[in-house]
Amino acid sequence: MIENDNHGDSCQGEEAIVPDVCRLAVTEWNGPFAQPEPDYAVRVLERGGVVLLPQLEFPLRDVERALMVKGSSPGSRKNVSFDPAKGHLRGSTADDADQAVLAAMTRRYAAASKALLGRLLPHYAGALVPGRTSYRPFEVAGRSSSWRKDDTRLHVDSFPSSPTGGRRIMRVFSNLNPEGRSRRWRLGEPFEAIAAHFVGSIHGPVWGSATALRLLGVTKRRRSAYDHYMLALHDSMKADSKYQRYSKQDVFEFPAGATWIVYTDQVSHAAIAGQFVLEQTFYLPVQAMLEVERSPLRVLERRIGRKLASV
Ligand SMILES: [Fe+2]
Repeated sequence: MIENDNHGDSCQGEEAIVPDVCRLAVTEWNGPFAQPEPDYAVRVLERGGVVLLPQLEFPLRDVERALMVKGSSPGSRKNVSFDPAKGHLRGSTADDADQAVLAAMTRRYAAASKALLGRLLPHYAGALVPGRTSYRPFEVAGRSSSWRKDDTRLHVDSFPSSPTGGRRIMRVFSNLNPEGRSRRWRLGEPFEAIAAHFVGSIHGPVWGSATALRLLGVTKRRRSAYDHYMLALHDSMKADSKYQRYSKQDVFEFPAGATWIVYTDQVSHAAIAGQFVLEQTFYLPVQAMLEVERSPLRVLERRIGRKLASV
């Protein structure tokens, strides 16, 4: 494995063996955002790169910092998540007062992330749909979980119960670590290479299974053929020990106080160490992309030779 903290000096995008991490000097959540060229950040993201804002720290209130210092006892869940649409906090075993602090923090992060992307990615204006906000207070290294849930293995994101129907999954992360510790990720090969490696061994969906999964309540909406293949890619990558060990990859340290943005349905990633991160999920219809042909949906459709979602 190659240790490399020298990303960002050459953001070539498509020639990269592992994703480029492209830095932008942004210090305010509401801008200003000087970019080397119009839609620079959009292009980096759509080409499978990571946009790193090393100086964009998410400001915490004293009560929030105190909650982190107090520590979060290792519970059964890995995240505390907040659903902005429903106003629900899920996964926390904290008392009512602490839950109120967590809810306020995640709500503020959701608003800050939305403002950030609204200004940084103007091409997507009005098209990004906010999903869950999550707070990840536990140390990633050394946590045990089943291979399918083990996010220390390289994978692309796909949600078993929440099919996207082809919509993109973009996530904003902020490393809040109070001791100044980095969030350590592995970054893997481009999506085209992942598809070339695994798609040939994945069977298509069984006829009627999407309807059955929906009726049984396994999925919140109908699982498209696209979602079937994405879930199979996620599982195939995580289950393949040789792939995990020998495929092209790199290690990157996201410093404390930094924020970064990535299409996690496209970029092969694994969180291998770090503690205290906030994350906001967004969904984007593929039609809103600058370069639709780069979407996982189109890459898979080209390889499989048929339409995989009705978009
Ligand atoms: Fe992930």
